Amino acid sequence: MNSLDKAANPNDGYGNGSEGNKLEKNTKDKTYFNSVHNYIESSAAVRIPQKVDKPLIKLKDVWKIYQMGDVDFAALKCINLDIFEGEFLVVLGPSGSGKSTLLNLIGCLDLPSKGDVFLDSKDISGLKESELARIRGQKIGFIFQSFNLIPTLNAQENVLLPMEFQEDNARKAKERAVYLLELVGLSDKKQNLPSQLSVGQRQRVAIARSLAVNPPIILADEPTGNLDSNTWHYILELLYKLNTKEGKTIIIVTHELEVIKHATRIVYLKDGKIEKIE
Ligand SMILES: Nc1ncnc2c1ncn2[C@@H]1O[C@H](COP(=O)(O)OP(=O)(O)OP(=O)(O)O)[C@@H](O)[C@H]1O
Ligand SMILES: [Mg+2]
Repeated sequence: MNSLDKAANPNDGYGNGSEGNKLEKNTKDKTYFNSVHNYIESSAAVRIPQKVDKPLIKLKDVWKIYQMGDVDFAALKCINLDIFEGEFLVVLGPSGSGKSTLLNLIGCLDLPSKGDVFLDSKDISGLKESELARIRGQKIGFIFQSFNLIPTLNAQENVLLPMEFQEDNARKAKERAVYLLELVGLSDKKQNLPSQLSVGQRQRVAIARSLAVNPPIILADEPTGNLDSNTWHYILELLYKLNTKEGKTIIIVTHELEVIKHATRIVYLKDGKIEKIE
């Protein structure tokens, strides 16, 4: 049982048992976040070492070319990048430099026009959509710039969605959805549709959904853009904890200096090219 799973246990002493009841009584976000902060702080302060022998994700001479009428537009130009298990990789670059395009390729949402993308040493570049979908479902949690919540499903149903394909036990899946919504401070909004949530709350549902199947890789595209500072500090801590304590590989597009501070490496993109990595 990893510490994220432990946190789902009502009697684990991580703020979800008797303390959890206290939390429910006090629904103020600030109190909730302080409590989660303590939960994060109380985890063993040992960083799971990165595995640097072979890359978890490898992009080899990757191009993404969009056809716009008669004109070809190269959104990514000959990208070579190795990403290792346990990295907290920040992608930086001006608007239009190819950051979201890069994340979509890493996340098997799109295929390169030229070049190869390897995940766990497997070349995904030639796979069929059904195979890509299976890999995405097992390995990758997405936090999109535009949330991509299903408007006709409530918060809990949105979080349950990725588990419907993976989890045979409906009761366990529901418990996890309830727990994840609690983790992002939305226990009282389970039944709300996305249209009945604030922008920050929608983003938190999207984050809960990204953790649904406990994926080893989390891709986040400007996840803190629409959040107030309290909420995004919490989200940042959660991502950082998932990285340092559970060894999840995080790849995040952000301009927030506080996030960049946590990076194991920073990839700078400009005009579809990697300008530098540091
Ligand atoms: N489907 C598409 N068809 C044509 N051009 C596209 C398509 N998707 C993206 N582009 C172009 O590719 C370039 C890179 O887009 P991308 O969304 O990756 O940028 P970004 O770095 O994520 O920008 P932002 O910071 O504004 O989100 C842009 O110039 C964009 O107009
Ligand atoms: Mg983008």
